[in-house]
Parts: sequence; C-alpha cells; structure tokens
Amino acid sequence: MNDKELVARQAARQVKDGMLVGLGTGSTANFFIEALARRKDDEGLRVTTVASSVVSTIKAQEVGLPMVALEQVTRLDLYVDGADEVSPDMTLLKGQGADLVREKLLANASDAFVVLVDKSKLVDRIGARFPIPIEVMPFAWRMVKRSIEATGGQGELRPNAGKDGFAVTAYGSLVLDMTFDPALDSQTLDDTLNGTPGVVEHGIFRGLASAVFIGVDGQVQERWAS
Ligand code: 5RP
Repeated sequence: MNDKELVARQAARQVKDGMLVGLGTGSTANFFIEALARRKDDEGLRVTTVASSVVSTIKAQEVGLPMVALEQVTRLDLYVDGADEVSPDMTLLKGQGADLVREKLLANASDAFVVLVDKSKLVDRIGARFPIPIEVMPFAWRMVKRSIEATGGQGELRPNAGKDGFAVTAYGSLVLDMTFDPALDSQTLDDTLNGTPGVVEHGIFRGLASAVFIGVDGQVQERWAS
C-alpha cells in the first residue's frame, strides 16, 4: 500500500457513526472515498457525504456513498482532502485540480479538516514547489493579473490539458498560476489575494487545517493544530 492510501485509511477511521463528511478531490482523496465506502459496507457505518467537485461526486456515487448537495449543507462534522504543499505552520497550498471554491467552503464549514499528504508535500514555505493558483472572473483576468503584478507576482493563465486554450473551472472561472518573491510570507499573500477585486478564490488555505496526516515510508505521522 502506498503512503497516500495509508493516510486515507487512517482518516477513514476518524469517521464516527452519523457524521456528515466532506469529500476532497484528487488521488489521495479518492483513496479516502474508497476507504470510507468500505467501512460503510463492512461495518454498517452510517455516513452522509458532500462532494467538493464533480469528480469526487462521481467517485462517491460509484462506490455507493450516500450524498447530499452542497446547497443543503450549512456545516459538516469532518472534511478530508489532499494538498499540494503543507508548510510547518500547517498552511496549505491547494488547487492543482482547480476546485478551490468548493474545497475552501467545505474546509471552512467543517468542525474538523483533516489533510492527507505524503512526505513529498512538506515544504518550508507556501509556493516553494508550485505557483499559487488564483481563480478569477473571466472578464477580470487582465485587471487581476495587473493588480497582482503590482505586488511583485508573476505568472500566466493556466493552459488547458490540450495546451490549445485555457483551463476553465467547473464554475466558468479562469486560473492564474502566479509566483511571488520567496520573502513574502503566506499571511501577507493570503491577505493580498483576499483583498483583490475579481479574485474568486485562491489556493492558500491558512488556519483551516485541524490535522495533517503525513505518510512517511509506510508510517503515518499525525500533526494536530494546537
Ligand atoms: C485539488 C487539490 C488536491 O487535493 C491536491 O492537488 C492533491 O492532489 P493529490 O492527492 O492527487 O496529490 O487541492 O484542488
């Protein structure tokens, strides 16, 4: 079993009978969805889920997890998702899959947010390995890009998979992938992006993670927020 599957199984063991659980998006989140479905089938665990994306909706339907629509939900017991980077203060970078809006809503509305990573995702600072994904209103992207460039950011619109156009999110937004001066801390970046008109959402998740489960060579290390 690889480290992603290992942490996913550990997270599935956190789920208690009757919980409303948010399902993340990505390969690690898929392992969690499978592990949760196994607990439902094998142990009779009663669980209701809400998905963070079209992809996780389809995955949850395939394995037979009961679901409710996001529109019906005001709060969740638990949200479980992967991340692209995790810094020492448990700030996350997410959004390589471009489902930021629903992911951050679910993370914010959950009593607990458990993040699943392998050790390759641990970084000294957010932005160390990936640009910051910034979801923008399509008509605003040039203005947003200029505003962000004024703070020292550099980057471009994310291309689509065929490299013959641009990536468009499930809600019709474009994504700017931007890099910043490494000296800029994630709090300043978060505040700047939150205050930029035309930005729908961005990939910095600060102060949201309750715990990070890290798969390290066949072992799980749990880091809980104090
Ligand atoms: C999607 C995400 C994913 O959680 C992140 O990209 C990690 O993916 P994976 O588990 O496949 O490594 O933020 O928007």
